[in-house]
Amino acid sequence: MSSRWCLPRIVAHRCGGALAPENTLAGLRVAAALGCGGVEFDVQASADGRAVVIHDERLDRTTDRVGPVVGLTAAELAICDAGIRHHPAFAGEHVPRLAEVAALCRSLGLVANVELKCNDDEGEAMARLVAPQVAECWRGAKVPPLISSFSEAALACAALVAADLPRALLVEAVPADWRGRLSRLGCIALHCHVDALEEALVRDVHGAGFRIAAYTVNDPAHAARWFALGVDALFSDRPELLLAHNPAASGGPP
Ligand code: G3P
Ligand code: CA
Repeated sequence: MSSRWCLPRIVAHRCGGALAPENTLAGLRVAAALGCGGVEFDVQASADGRAVVIHDERLDRTTDRVGPVVGLTAAELAICDAGIRHHPAFAGEHVPRLAEVAALCRSLGLVANVELKCNDDEGEAMARLVAPQVAECWRGAKVPPLISSFSEAALACAALVAADLPRALLVEAVPADWRGRLSRLGCIALHCHVDALEEALVRDVHGAGFRIAAYTVNDPAHAARWFALGVDALFSDRPELLLAHNPAASGGPP
């Protein structure tokens, strides 16, 4: 299996899981305070081509503004409130630039899974713009971030423009030809929806030399079962629950 695998077993989903506003610096601080060793978050491009951390194409669900993310510059996004809709205690949290998130991950010792969030038809352009920024943000880091995407076009482009960064293919259902896709894209891991996990799949993915992770698992007993079957990492909105029941899974990769 690839020695480039970098994620710990329990990874806080969208920075800090459910205890903090998603995809914010506050989320990273919460993840670190909980004892998480790794975080996952979503990256898109702003109007001025800067990598920014937010899940939806639009600002409406998670911020105090409406409209497409790509309609605002990084400076304009920096004054959108991405905390208050989660809880007033988080008012003032902004939509962060990737550079801010990377710097805080590095100072807190959090391993990062950077998801390139895009449709496949915009995947190549997104990766061409954003993947070099990911590489630059973690330049010289002891542990590089893992890039993942549902867009195979984005992963193929990332392989060209940020070749040194490890990659994972994200899927909801697992395609029959997952081996060929991972090999063709030079990925080291398959990340699937937890409903698509099967014991035989874990065995086959490992047998083929890849890692396997799944999203999103919030029940500790459910997580323990998958860890016992060898799943390499689980993304969770309740990392504090999983950590309490699987304390050995907090640190770095095996
Ligand atoms: O990377 C796993 C997971 O984050 C993918 O789904 O919609 O939460 O980005 P989503
Ligand atoms: Ca994600």
